[in-house]
Amino acid sequence: DFDSARHRPLFGRHVLVTAGPTHEAIDPVRYIANRSSGKQGFAIAAAAAEAGARVTLVAGPVHLPTPPGVERVDVESAREMAEAVESALPAHVAVMVAAVADWRPAAVADRKIKKDGTEPEPLALAENPDILATLAASPRRPGLVIGFAAETNDVIPHAQAKRLRKQVDWIVANDVSGDVMGGDANAVHIVRESGVDSLPRMPKDQVARALVERIADALA
Ligand code: CTP
Ligand code: CA
Repeated sequence: DFDSARHRPLFGRHVLVTAGPTHEAIDPVRYIANRSSGKQGFAIAAAAAEAGARVTLVAGPVHLPTPPGVERVDVESAREMAEAVESALPAHVAVMVAAVADWRPAAVADRKIKKDGTEPEPLALAENPDILATLAASPRRPGLVIGFAAETNDVIPHAQAKRLRKQVDWIVANDVSGDVMGGDANAVHIVRESGVDSLPRMPKDQVARALVERIADALA
């Protein structure tokens, strides 16, 4: 009815969100990771659920509570995240906020690596799958695919290049030249084919609501 269209504009939609870092095992006790807190992705999942969507949140290792009404799938590595994303399809919208590790150790030692008094071995790396680009090229591609890009410089040109390279609809470019990683506010530019929508720096939950509003408008 009229009221639900206004207050729950994503009712009947399935929104898939990835969030947080990934951990890439070196041995049973060590891993490679990054500084993502997961806050922005969790805020987007929460805002989409508030807007009435069914939400699947594929979360890397973070210490955050599951937002109300959100179905959460916990993963550790990029390859586990890729599988969980595939399993969550079909979706109307995908918002890939996770800071996926670009590389993983080429081999995982099955026992703790010990010091032996000699020079340490260099750590050989392998490239992880690009979850976003794979999804965008998939026959099961959601109608609206949105990536995030954290950049320290030339934010908009880098985001535009990324949008074209990954064949995604929107890139939300995050200016991380300040102290954004782990902080509570973000300054983002939503880069689309039609142009760039720059939002003022605001708390991450407000960025999430602004993005969800634009997603609802795009689907309407
Ligand atoms: N991404 C992904 N899988 C990867 C790497 C990135 O799904 N293996 C997604 C991120 O979730 C994000 C977008 O791609 O939505 C952009 O991530 P970013 O790290 O900025 O892009 P990269 O292609 O990895 O480029 P860069 O060399 O700048 O890190
Ligand atoms: Ca990357």
